[in-house]
Amino acid sequence: MAYVVKENCLKCKYTDCVAVCPVDCFHEGEDFLVIDPEICIDCGVCVDECPAKAIEPESEENVDWLEINAKYSKIWPVITQKQPHRADAHLFDGMPNKLKKFGIQ
Ligand code: SF4
Ligand code: F3S
Repeated sequence: MAYVVKENCLKCKYTDCVAVCPVDCFHEGEDFLVIDPEICIDCGVCVDECPAKAIEPESEENVDWLEINAKYSKIWPVITQKQPHRADAHLFDGMPNKLKKFGIQ
């Protein structure tokens, strides 16, 4: 089991989540973060930190997102500190079909 970053992180990328993770398992892309499912210890503390409500426990409903998290955590660098988010992040919070519109970067 692991926790999974889902679509609503795309282009919001608030990074509050990384500040609380005890095992530094977040990895950073240009517009999105992922959790390395092999490192995540299922503590759940990142869930309430995310202003975009983009983090969930792994389940049958988010297998596609688990695969995306697993794939990009092998490619992207680790991020351990909160960073300033883009000024227009709030405009992307709740926007439908972000994966289709922007892809994973
Ligand atoms: Fe890190 Fe815990 Fe969130 Fe997993 S559930 S990503 S270990 S803070
Ligand atoms: Fe993304 Fe939420 Fe973290 S928007 S970067 S999962 S705080």
